Amino acid sequence: MLVSDNRLIVALDFDDMDKVRKLVAELGDAVGHYKVGMELFYAAGGEAIRFLRAAGKEVFLDLKLHDIPNTVGRSAGVLAALGATMINVHAGGGTAMMRAAVAATAGSRPRPKLIAVTVLTSLDEAEWARLNYAVPIADQAVNLAKLAGEAGLDGVVASPREAAAIRQACGPEFLIVTPGVRPAGSAVNDQSRVATPAGALKAGASHLVVGRPVTAAPDPRAAAAAILQEMRETRHD
Ligand code: C5P
Repeated sequence: MLVSDNRLIVALDFDDMDKVRKLVAELGDAVGHYKVGMELFYAAGGEAIRFLRAAGKEVFLDLKLHDIPNTVGRSAGVLAALGATMINVHAGGGTAMMRAAVAATAGSRPRPKLIAVTVLTSLDEAEWARLNYAVPIADQAVNLAKLAGEAGLDGVVASPREAAAIRQACGPEFLIVTPGVRPAGSAVNDQSRVATPAGALKAGASHLVVGRPVTAAPDPRAAAAAILQEMRETRHD
């Protein structure tokens, strides 16, 4: 039997609403939580969020806000009013910026979860050296996660590889949303540091973001069902 689980977030990396409507209809009650990123939001705007909310879905709006505190706070308030249930900002924007986002969304109903991007997982060690930060990438990811927690955010986006250290540093309630999840045997695509659904949960992830393994599958509902089954079995380990 198929049991939905909103810890699974399916990434709607599309540029028009027709593809979104088709996929959401195909997945039906199997998936209750979707990620809308820059591509879809810039193409379809608030319509993407309104459509998903009207269908009873949770919406992680992945726009990675990063600007001065006043601008980020006001923008986060607008996104909350559109109905997003999870919003993210760059922790690198600093504590005042993160606090502004917290303050601006605190009164929204439902209050969206606010999470921070720490270090983009696309940065490798060579690029990190060029950027000339004083600490290793992994340490900086944990530092920024702690800052996000201190600023009142609910959690972070992190690669499965960073999840265990962040879980240890930030406690059991902190949200850790991990992309780069690949069921065993599925295509890795352009991801480099991947984990299986079970591996990501065991490393401490609270939510799994999965895109192409579901959206590009010949049978998206069956692909989601297989991931949900693996998640269910992991929970009872
Ligand atoms: O198709 P795939 O499962 O690789 O999609 C993963 C989603 O998570 C995409 O929307 C991608 O932009 C996002 N993401 C990621 N790695 C990060 C942060 C976000 O893959 N570090």
